[in-house]
Amino acid sequence: MSLRICHVVGARPNYMKAAPVVRALSQYSGVEQTIVHTGQHYDFNMSEVFFQQLGMPEPDFNLQVGSGSHAQQTAAIISHFEPVVLKARPHIVAVYGDVNSTIAAALVCCKLGIAVAHVEAGLRSFDRTMPEEINRILTDQICDLLFTPSKDGNNNLGREGIAPEKVHLVGNVMIDTLVRMLPKSREYMPKTPQRFALVTLHRPSNVDDLEWLGAMLKALNHIGGETPVLFPLHPRTRKGLSQVLTNSDANMHIQFMDPLPYLEFLALQQAAMVVITDSGGIQEETTFMGIPCLTVRENTERPITVELGTNVLVGRDLDRLQYEAEQVLTGHRKEGRIPPLWDGHAAERIAEVLIERCGESAETVALGPALGATQG
Ligand code: UD1
Repeated sequence: MSLRICHVVGARPNYMKAAPVVRALSQYSGVEQTIVHTGQHYDFNMSEVFFQQLGMPEPDFNLQVGSGSHAQQTAAIISHFEPVVLKARPHIVAVYGDVNSTIAAALVCCKLGIAVAHVEAGLRSFDRTMPEEINRILTDQICDLLFTPSKDGNNNLGREGIAPEKVHLVGNVMIDTLVRMLPKSREYMPKTPQRFALVTLHRPSNVDDLEWLGAMLKALNHIGGETPVLFPLHPRTRKGLSQVLTNSDANMHIQFMDPLPYLEFLALQQAAMVVITDSGGIQEETTFMGIPCLTVRENTERPITVELGTNVLVGRDLDRLQYEAEQVLTGHRKEGRIPPLWDGHAAERIAEVLIERCGESAETVALGPALGATQG
């Protein structure tokens, strides 16, 4: 009997996290993998292009749930995923990150008595106004195996009463993908000015409040007066901007762009003087690459990027944002270190645990040498 593992992905940041786990598990014979895409993100450049660039197998099922309110989206994933998981009959389901697809799939499995593993468990912003924070807390409570990227995750889970034997500190799977794709990304560098700042913003707290979004644009434009600003737009952000921008903004020092594929965006990050963001994953990627990062949020669920890395939380303080940007652009940048276990091998550690814990009733065999030896 083979070990059946189902991976659930739905939104842009999930793909980079699932890809290395799928790859690591494919090194074992006797493992049957199914990929379910919920369709939370559906535009080509928010989804399909990532599968292509990451070399990830096509999803076996696409639930095509699309957009909606949180309740609608979560409910649609729940009701569409249940028949699929009943058909696939996995021994274990892996869910990733903190998006609506993560909690929805975990809840379905938990009620059906199917084991669930949460990859990127234990992260906490302690800000319950963030939809992702609710998804994180609830997912961790109902999962059977929890894979944390850093020690703070273990501490948070311990405080929430999660049994320590469920928790495995494995490192950061997003960094696995980064390590693998970094050399290739250099071939994908878009044409840019020599010095530039790179901006991404998409959190509801930043882009749904139009007054705040307008104020941020002014601050970014001010920075753009010194150094060109490149700003790839998430669909949520584009919607907000279309209401904020007026004809007189045509001469802004900001170059707006469509969302970029993974390799192009990675190349831009590497070449940027500074990255200004509210994304979780980008805080981690900049820390790994040693690129200065200014995070426009009051808190972060990834405090290790501030403690050890290059990340600076500027909060909702636009004077501070401009000051910190000025500091970096004049050569006064925060130096950082790479957190422990962010070494490109987190997914292999996850695969080992999954095989050991779930493979007892199934025949699984490691194929050849450890994957680490073959991964560039
Ligand atoms: C979601 C995640 C967030 C993650 C982000 C990464 C939740 C609660 N939030 O936020 O944690 O950091 O993805 O991108 O799961 N849209 C399109 N095309 C698409 C996808 C979305 O036009 O391919 C539009 C939708 O119509 C929607 C808006 O963008 O109105 C936001 O999409 P949604 O899935 O609600 O969440 P994100 O803001 O992307």
